[in-house]
Amino acid sequence: MTHFGEIDFFVTKFKISRKKAKEILITYGDFDEAIDEFEFQINNRITVDNLPSDKSTSINPSPMNEELKEEIKVIDNESKEEGPKILPKPYTVHKSSAAMITRWVEVPIRELVDFCKYQMIHAKVDPKEFICPICRCDYYNDMLTLSDKEIDELDTKMIKGEISIDVVMLSKCKKHFYHKDCVEPMAKDTASVKCAICGVIYGTLYGDMPAGVMEIRHIPVPCEGYEKYRSIEIIYTIPSGSKDGKRHSGTQRIAYLPDNEEGKEILELLKIAFSRRLLFTVGTSITTGVNDVVVWNGIHHKTSLRGGAMSHGYPDPTYFKRVKEELAAKGIHSK
Ligand code: APR
Ligand code: ZN
Repeated sequence: MTHFGEIDFFVTKFKISRKKAKEILITYGDFDEAIDEFEFQINNRITVDNLPSDKSTSINPSPMNEELKEEIKVIDNESKEEGPKILPKPYTVHKSSAAMITRWVEVPIRELVDFCKYQMIHAKVDPKEFICPICRCDYYNDMLTLSDKEIDELDTKMIKGEISIDVVMLSKCKKHFYHKDCVEPMAKDTASVKCAICGVIYGTLYGDMPAGVMEIRHIPVPCEGYEKYRSIEIIYTIPSGSKDGKRHSGTQRIAYLPDNEEGKEILELLKIAFSRRLLFTVGTSITTGVNDVVVWNGIHHKTSLRGGAMSHGYPDPTYFKRVKEELAAKGIHSK
């Protein structure tokens, strides 16, 4: 039987309705536990509004900052085993967003040709693979058929700044080269660049999920296979709305995690993904075939406490590993 004083306490302290206060007291039975849970819920309500995502986060202002110097060291050390060194030098200071996000370094023709030839001889790489992954053209026209003299002449001009250095190497995924002009548009409307070869993400990836709320609470019912723990219940509410004049219908989804170490870890990653608008998108539902609805966007959730993988529930021994991989593919990594 719930005490009226306890209900009043909740109503005053948390500014909620009597109905909600009663519901939470009945669910938790114990007054102190109910207070803990309620404070937890209030602190775990994440709202994403319709403001454009912040493009300025994690972009470095200058390509020659301390962090870049660190990476140059790393690149030098690692390149020892891979043949000719590519020594990043800031020939030109770039202020474009792609340059700042990827902290690319320019690669003049001599370094690139030496690297490619080494790869052809020692790693038996097919010369056809030495093309820009975006436009699929030569990095420098016919660079593998030029004579040493021609290469050196071009290289000297590039280093002196008489002709432009068109090829860049991205800072994190070493030895992945692009035309400068091909990387540039990749960073145009976002704060991130994804390497087309290895998928490494530079900057912060934001999605296009409409505005919504993520709420988290504990429920005293375990996920199947995790009987020792309570469960974390996540409630996503994405209301209907419109974008560019086009209407879409919203959705409410409820997902579960066991309230153990791994579940808590994944919850933190999901919070980041939600605040970066990555969990849902607007599109066609594969399940229902309906257009212009809010749908899951590649990061899987367990929408059932039980029933196993077939029911999108627990137990599912590989689920945690898979969802972490899905999150990592969008630039969200466990600590
Ligand atoms: N729970 C969790 N994930 C699901 C479910 C479910 N019940 N059904 C499908 N998925 C996964 C699919 O495996 C797929 O990878 O969602 C992904 C996207 O499928 P869509 O059908 O395009 O997505 P959506 O319409 O958003 O969701 C399908 O998920 O949560 C449920 O109620 C929701 O029935 C709906 C279903
Ligand atoms: Zn790469």
